[in-house]
Amino acid sequence: MAARRALITGITGQDGAYLARLLLDKGYDVHGTVRRASTPGEQRLAEIRDRITLHDADMLDVGSLMSVLEQVGPHEVYNLAAQSFVPTSWQQPLLTGEVTALGAARLLEAVRRVDPNIRYYQASSSEMFGKVREEPQRETTPFWPRSPYGVAKMYAHWITINYRESYGLFASCGILFNHESPLRGPEFVTRKVTRAVARIKLGLQDRLRLGNLDAQRDWGFAGDYVEAMWLMLQQDEPDDYVIATGEKHTVREFVDLAFARVDLDPQRYVEIDPNLLRPAEVNMLVGDASKARARLGWQPRVCFADLVAMMVDADLEQARREASG
Ligand code: NAP
Ligand code: GDD
Repeated sequence: MAARRALITGITGQDGAYLARLLLDKGYDVHGTVRRASTPGEQRLAEIRDRITLHDADMLDVGSLMSVLEQVGPHEVYNLAAQSFVPTSWQQPLLTGEVTALGAARLLEAVRRVDPNIRYYQASSSEMFGKVREEPQRETTPFWPRSPYGVAKMYAHWITINYRESYGLFASCGILFNHESPLRGPEFVTRKVTRAVARIKLGLQDRLRLGNLDAQRDWGFAGDYVEAMWLMLQQDEPDDYVIATGEKHTVREFVDLAFARVDLDPQRYVEIDPNLLRPAEVNMLVGDASKARARLGWQPRVCFADLVAMMVDADLEQARREASG
């Protein structure tokens, strides 16, 4: 039997790299879109580069999206591409809207025109809950986004539901809470901390500047979360699901655990930089993934402490390579 084909936008990002590996393990023919850059940004895909096919396309250019869909003929499309860093969304709100919000509309429109039988996954975000209306947050919790990124994700979320309702597309949204890994971008707080901890331990850095240490997040492992994306597209009916661990921790707890992993005292190294505080903060996110547990049979495997340890250990290895040459 011919392999199922999947197309991943944002394959060069953290989740793209984990999802591509998962789909390869499941026997998929895996394709991804990359946007043109003066230097290639495919480092996260190094180990699987010869087993996947990459195509040039940009979420800003609907023609490129239509061409890639026509060329690949995917059974499943995972829309992971986004301007995903919240602080950048205040500096570049229009770009964030173009890529993260309208990009999804362009891709849905391309799917509808090229092959409406394609199953579509939209990377929605817990950032949409923003100033939270209830705790924990579930699929029915009202949204109150607090950043241009959160607003853009809300548009993408609702346009996905609208295409499902208007055209009968098999389109599902995963409302994913924060998920991290050794492949996390270095500007997000978890990876910023674990990289700094490793580099401080090896004498490559002497300070770690952070913003709001009191913010609380529900942090899971990216490898677990991409499995939920795949499960959503294997159901009989499209639907929307919260994906979360159900546990919340402060940034401070993350910092303390990460420094403890290398027997250092964070008080000696961490400084608060007011420039890193946000114009409007999301103080607390914690999700209730009961629906995903019941309907998808999904549950997280990696706990908070193991996630911190995994990330610190990976960054120690990287820092050792940096130190030795
Ligand atoms: P990420 O590491 O920032 O990856 C984003 C991807 O989008 C990259 O491959 C990037 O390509 C691509 N991209 C950006 N602008 C593009 C454009 N104009 N055209 C085409 N591709 C473009 O994000 P992630 O952590 O893997 O997250 C994946 C998705 O889930 C994102 O939509 C994010 O907003 C959403 N999400 C993430 C989390 C989380 O905690 N990680 C939680 C909820 C939702 P380049 O490599 O060229 O920059
Ligand atoms: N990035 C960053 N850098 N965040 C910091 C810092 C710092 O130096 N110091 C404190 N924080 C706090 C932020 O204020 C925020 O409350 C929290 O750490 C988490 O910040 P990020 O790791 O940047 O993630 P995020 O929660 O804003 O957004 C991530 O999760 C969303 C899902 O809720 C991103 O992956 C989004 O794309 C995703 O949708």
